Amino acid sequence: MKQSTMTTSTEIKDRAILVSLVTGDENDDLIQYSLEELVRLAETAGVEVLDTALQKREKADSKWFIGKGKVEEVRVRLRELEGTTVIFNQELSGGQVRNLEEALDAKIVDRTQLILDIFAQRAKTREGILQVELAQLSYLLPRLSGHGKNLSRLGGGIGTRGPGETKLETDRRHIRNRITDLRRQLDEVTRHRKLHRERRKKSGVYQVALVGYTNAGKSTLLNRMTNADVYAENLLFATLDPTSRSMPLPSAGEVVLTDTVGFIQQLPHDLVAAFRATLEEVLEADLILHVVDASSPMREEHIRVVEEVLKELGAQGKETITVYNKIDLCAPGDCDMIPSGPDAIQLSALNDAHLDALKDMLERRLMGEVVTFRFPIERGDLIALAYRTGDVLESETEDDAVKMTIKPQSKAYASVAAKLEPFLLK
Ligand code: GTP
Repeated sequence: MKQSTMTTSTEIKDRAILVSLVTGDENDDLIQYSLEELVRLAETAGVEVLDTALQKREKADSKWFIGKGKVEEVRVRLRELEGTTVIFNQELSGGQVRNLEEALDAKIVDRTQLILDIFAQRAKTREGILQVELAQLSYLLPRLSGHGKNLSRLGGGIGTRGPGETKLETDRRHIRNRITDLRRQLDEVTRHRKLHRERRKKSGVYQVALVGYTNAGKSTLLNRMTNADVYAENLLFATLDPTSRSMPLPSAGEVVLTDTVGFIQQLPHDLVAAFRATLEEVLEADLILHVVDASSPMREEHIRVVEEVLKELGAQGKETITVYNKIDLCAPGDCDMIPSGPDAIQLSALNDAHLDALKDMLERRLMGEVVTFRFPIERGDLIALAYRTGDVLESETEDDAVKMTIKPQSKAYASVAAKLEPFLLK
């Protein structure tokens, strides 16, 4: 398999015009932001962005995606700027790719392919590489004929990393076989990951998953909270493979924090499906830390996108703390509307004092409320057990009973809860 690599100077660099089609009634800010995000995605993939173009239309053209007149405009501009590639902000059909490729005499790349390409560049672990290849092949299979020509003509750049060119030229059956093989290998990796997770679970360690829109600051937060050294950069999708680090909390004991892949608008469906095993870390977590870039004008939109992906994974409604990060970058007044309360905190991952507040909050949420029991005085066994499972905040003898208020100390409490709970004071 051709290994994924970062773009190097010896590799052909795409020189591209970026095109976005607007069919809904999105406001101008959202449209502009979406285009800027496409520029960042393209640059992350190593593309030289020459220009951008926007078209508002009632609906996409079935043949050209954008209007014929706009195609001509882009063609002229591309010649002027000596571009090689046109990147679309939405997903195209195989037929549209073919038609545009002919009309523009350029490589055509859609948003999905661009994101898949970045993932192919970033994948480092065996699991990540398998998952990206699976997503790329699932995307390519129904579009094979649309991509054959431009790939054989332009031998590098977006769309050619990952599975490799020769693979794209093989027949559908070959690709289907490869998909089956990849799924089998991934099943094995998934089983391993599951075993590992179960072992962690049994050991009574709390699991916390960090999720968030790409570039929200998840890796930075993980690094700061655990003194780890996870790759954090001002790049989209800097982290691809889940990274777990443990962190001690005074009462909850050891907590494992896992950084997951960042989400983005229109995250390719094939990618979410392929990354299911990785994202299952989120499903299994005791708590989710949803990291939001508070300073982004699109923060509400980002929250919505993340919540949608969580829903797709079946993780909606899980215990969540929303971390409004990058508060240091908020212009005066911009962050006034951010909610606060037991489920939300504003901070800057760059500021240690704020991190302590988050740790306190985590501890409170993981530990739950304090509990009070009333044990018969002769049940020394239960009283001893209660002492072992938590911090005893108060203990008092009342006639023939002992009243104890406890802050459960670790998950070990869960294993004896059934014995203690008949004596809970309501
Ligand atoms: P993906 O890997 O794309 O999902 O990104 P991420 O969410 O892990 O973000 P990452 O931690 O890589 O941070 C992205 C950029 O934001 C980096 O340049 C960080 O230095 C910066 N950053 C993170 N937190 C803060 C913060 O609180 N304040 C400021 N000013 N910058 C921050």
